[in-house]
Amino acid sequence: MSPRRRLAQAAIAIAVGAVLAAPLAARDAGARAPEPNTLVPAGTIHYAASALPDRIVATPLEDAARGFSVAWRTGAGVDAPWVEIALAGDSPDPGPVRRVRARTAPLTTENGPAHHHKALLDGLEPDTLYAWRVQGEGTWSPWRQMRTAPAPAQPMTLLYFGDTQNQNASLVSRVMLEAMRHAPDARLALFAGDLVSGGDGEDDNEWGEWFDAVAPVAATMTVAPAMGNHEYAEEFEDTPQERRVMGAHWPLTFALPGNGAPGAEAGTYWFDAQDVRFVVLDGTSALDLGTAQAQARWLDGVLADNPRRWTVAMVHQPMYSPRQDRDNALLREHVLPVLERHAVDLVLQGHDHVYGRRGGEQARPTPQYVVSVAGAKQYRLSAQARRDMAPVAEDTQLFQVLRIDGDRLAYEARTATGRLYDAFVLQRRGDAVALIEHTEGRIPQRDCPREATPKGRTDRCWE
Ligand SMILES: [Fe+2]
Repeated sequence: MSPRRRLAQAAIAIAVGAVLAAPLAARDAGARAPEPNTLVPAGTIHYAASALPDRIVATPLEDAARGFSVAWRTGAGVDAPWVEIALAGDSPDPGPVRRVRARTAPLTTENGPAHHHKALLDGLEPDTLYAWRVQGEGTWSPWRQMRTAPAPAQPMTLLYFGDTQNQNASLVSRVMLEAMRHAPDARLALFAGDLVSGGDGEDDNEWGEWFDAVAPVAATMTVAPAMGNHEYAEEFEDTPQERRVMGAHWPLTFALPGNGAPGAEAGTYWFDAQDVRFVVLDGTSALDLGTAQAQARWLDGVLADNPRRWTVAMVHQPMYSPRQDRDNALLREHVLPVLERHAVDLVLQGHDHVYGRRGGEQARPTPQYVVSVAGAKQYRLSAQARRDMAPVAEDTQLFQVLRIDGDRLAYEARTATGRLYDAFVLQRRGDAVALIEHTEGRIPQRDCPREATPKGRTDRCWE
């Protein structure tokens, strides 16, 4: 090619680039209208329950190697339906099938009447692939394949997600798909609360979108959710009698182990999977409903009697809040000393819509306290969080992959596009644990690039 022709082609390329780049450059927050919380147009019924089962989700039993519980939804014509479970095989013939009957409860929402069902699949073998399906009205769900947790001393991969909460269909679904690409062998997904925003008359649409978004995860592994403040509703709002009450969806949507703290049974539980004891707390009940001490006592008992090598706690509201003007003092007063005394390895949290990680006050490697966010809503970091936490992030949707293998727990936080944001290893040597930071390959700190959200709020970064 002649130099002149090469120059001409380069000029065309620059011109085309400028044309393509112009609309992208113009896409600043000021030019962008705020997105509604769901993609369902006003006045449209998209998530009505039907004869076909939907919102199917499995949660681990207390001993996750021995089974899981299943919850799902149908139209109101279905009562006490069956679950079928068999050893998964390569033939379309499922072979001998065990049938378990579900318990049913009704719920009427903006999408009309529905029945929610729960069934317990226990007595299973560890590290075994099962096929199962749930019944609708004259129909069945597709067969799902799910592997029970491995016995101790086997490696295990799991996922952790901070708040999904907003625009689940529009912007959370990509995070779930990216997480699956990075950890196709995951057995368990932890959700740190505020799965939906709720309280807006569109709660059921939001739950419908949450299940659509997490479909690739929920179809292949068990799900362990924490309850966030948005899983509660306000009753008698703006009156002296104002109080938090549990949202109608939570107790019907998940079939949790039911071994929780007195007075906070609906949102607290523990289970063992492979070499880990997982303990889930209800921060809202602790902070607003007076159960902080009861949960701390219960946590103390669960951790005192822990034969597993690792301990992971999950609670929606953080012990150390990375957002400006937030301080969950009751949790720090009652729950934090128990986490520290038992040297919990990881405390996985949400609520503040930023990312931040830190150790405790004692400068010990554990617990590592993490706050993360998977969804669209993004807040701003406090100056203190910028001093006390590392790494930190604003304006970033994230997911986490945890790989546990014997004495090694490897943690990775990745962005919605799969880039590495944070990584470390906890290495056990006898009774001691070493924290090994992995800084190689991490992308630089991300800070909010805009002055205000599309709605003009300067205290947030995106909504
Ligand atoms: Fe929250």
